[in-house]
Amino acid sequence: MSRAELEADLRAGLWGETPSLPPRWFYDERGSRLFDEITGLPEYYPTRAEREILQQRSPEIIEITGAHGVDELGAGTSAKTRVLLDALTAGGRRAVYAPLDISSEVLLETAEELRAEYPTLTVEPAVADFHHLPPLVGEAGERLLLFLGGTIGNFTEEERGGFLAMVRQALAPGDHFLLGADLVKDPARLVAAYDDAAGVTAQFDLNLVDVINHTVPVTGLHREDWVHEAAWDEGASRIEMRLRAVRDIDADFTGIGRRWRLAKGEYLRTEISRKFRLEGLRTELAGHGLEPVTSWTDEAGDFSLTLARASEDLREPRA
Ligand code: AVJ
Repeated sequence: MSRAELEADLRAGLWGETPSLPPRWFYDERGSRLFDEITGLPEYYPTRAEREILQQRSPEIIEITGAHGVDELGAGTSAKTRVLLDALTAGGRRAVYAPLDISSEVLLETAEELRAEYPTLTVEPAVADFHHLPPLVGEAGERLLLFLGGTIGNFTEEERGGFLAMVRQALAPGDHFLLGADLVKDPARLVAAYDDAAGVTAQFDLNLVDVINHTVPVTGLHREDWVHEAAWDEGASRIEMRLRAVRDIDADFTGIGRRWRLAKGEYLRTEISRKFRLEGLRTELAGHGLEPVTSWTDEAGDFSLTLARASEDLREPRA
């Protein structure tokens, strides 16, 4: 991703009331690999819970949707998706899979692996972010768009509405959308999932400082000046990841000609991760012309998958 894009995000985010940056900047090559490591941590339950659901429900998902074309937003290494691809290609069934991601290195490497593993699968990787969906693969009515892992939680309430509207626009009636969403639970478990004992999530968060330094011209921004933290905001039903300044920060973004100061003890918000109640989420999907067909959770009730069908007519989304 480009210097100009990061500079636009810095401009929009750093000088506001609560300094923040969008989480997409975490995912350079090192960040993508650190996230992969997070998914195997004992405290980070979402990946395991979602895999458990996919292992049980993939044949059913393929049967209900009749999908031959599958697009996946934020595919990463497609690790969990392999369970679904097994069902998609079972018995030598032909299909197309388009993993979409912002990290091209991981994407292209994964595409090569998948082609070797699934001989009847056509793999069409594409670099894409959540704001611009490319045309989806497959025939209208037989398409399935995946958005897994709980990444829907990274959007603000307003961004999520815009995103769901875009998803509905990209689909034709009868196409399906499979959404992974993390559920509200004991705050102690939520915080631990975003602040693990081994410190991998802290490395992931701090990697953002390196990404900024590598991407834009700046002086005065040093990794050692920050500590990672995770906080649960009950009112907003979300986890916030923050980098808290342990020293006064005085950074000069020479490319945009702006100076950024943050006092010791203040923080930069690096990610929000919204946690849902299933009923509310289903109502919201329906309001955007994405009619819930079925929702599943893992045995423990920690995480959800909802399969929704694009409605016949495109209505104006409800507020
Ligand atoms: C990839 C966005 C789903 O919000 O749980 C994991 C990212 N951040 N640990 C999440 C993340 C810190 C993750 N998503």
